[in-house]
Amino acid sequence: MSILVTGGSGYIGSHTCLQLGAAGFNPVILDNLSNSKASVVDTLTRLGQVKPVFYHGDIRDKLLLARIFAEHAIEAVIHFAGLKAVGESVKKPVEYYDNNVYGTLALVQAMREAGVRQLIFSSSATVYGDRPVIPYDESLPTGRPSSPYGRSKLMVEQILEDVQRAEPEWNMTLLRYFNPAGAHPSGDMGEDPQGIPNNLMPFIAQVAVGRRPTLAIFGNDFPTPDGTGVRDYIHVMDLADGHVAALKALRNRPGTHIYNLGAGVGHSVLDVVKAFGKASGKPVPYHFAPRRDGDLAAYWAAPEKAARDLHWRVSRSLEEMAEDTWRWQSRHPNGYPD
Ligand code: NAD
Ligand code: WQD
Repeated sequence: MSILVTGGSGYIGSHTCLQLGAAGFNPVILDNLSNSKASVVDTLTRLGQVKPVFYHGDIRDKLLLARIFAEHAIEAVIHFAGLKAVGESVKKPVEYYDNNVYGTLALVQAMREAGVRQLIFSSSATVYGDRPVIPYDESLPTGRPSSPYGRSKLMVEQILEDVQRAEPEWNMTLLRYFNPAGAHPSGDMGEDPQGIPNNLMPFIAQVAVGRRPTLAIFGNDFPTPDGTGVRDYIHVMDLADGHVAALKALRNRPGTHIYNLGAGVGHSVLDVVKAFGKASGKPVPYHFAPRRDGDLAAYWAAPEKAARDLHWRVSRSLEEMAEDTWRWQSRHPNGYPD
């Protein structure tokens, strides 16, 4: 069973390809390598013993998409490809809407022409915007995401729902990730951010390995138990398993299906710093800095709907996220080879 995985050489996509292979699916990767490296495919082959087919190209290239659908009997598409840096999206909205929104439209058109109508989309908890009710459950109306990145995710959700309404044979599965972290337990596959990491765990990892002097903690005056921001961190292997679970549970079930993928537990920035210090055997140097624009104090997922329908829930702890990230970072201080 072949599954087209757009963005399959990226952070979440690569871990998902591994778990797809383990579950008996054949991943076919399409990635333009704008934020990943081709050598990930060799790692996948070594760890997963399944050599994924790899296409170097762009989801906006309709001719290439048509060729991929003609060359493989694709059953479903898992759509990770896109740009994801919140701050950069404020400066480059055109690039973000073009990649994330137009890119998804091009993909949907190619799928329709090929008769493939099962799509799993990488959405984000950011679509809830700023909500006074925690935890966030899927019945909450979506809010006002604070960045072009967040708005591109919400727009795509709305477009996919509209398509499903007009053409009911589609299965549109919208997975709203909370805060992915961690790495494959081998230490040979993980997150390889280009430039300065935007997210907390990879930044801490680079401090711990000596690539950066100290972590700036954005705000210690939030209304949270220790004053720092609280988030729902989810191990990337759990997230990968969530995609396989969604693929299996929702097969032949047309409709729009929306699920949170989160642990259902909040951890503060200081909790993450402590867990990382323990995993690496040395304290992580940090200092407090002003709040970052647009950051919320605290939120986490209500994960019950996914547990009920997809028979999936997280099984890996914050400690494992820190240990696995540290193993990856210390074995590969400069990420994947070029
Ligand atoms: P990533 O940058 O590691 O992976 C995305 C991959 O898509 C990269 O390999 C990149 O080269 C590729 N890509 C980008 N634009 C493309 C295009 N036009 N055509 C083909 N390939 C393209 O990011 P990730 O963390 O693995 O995120 C995967 C998806 O999950 C993204 O859509 C992201 O918005 C979403 N998401 C991520 C997080 C997170 O914190 N990591 C949270 C919620 C949602
Ligand atoms: C986590 C916590 C920061 C870096 C973002 C996107 C969201 C989703 C996941 C894609 C916060 C604090 C961080 C640092 C810090 N992505 N922090 N110092 O902002 O919760 O979510 O990534 O869809 O849409 O907005 O994640 O990892 O950036 O921050 O103190 O150097 O760590 O303030 O409390 P965030 P994050």
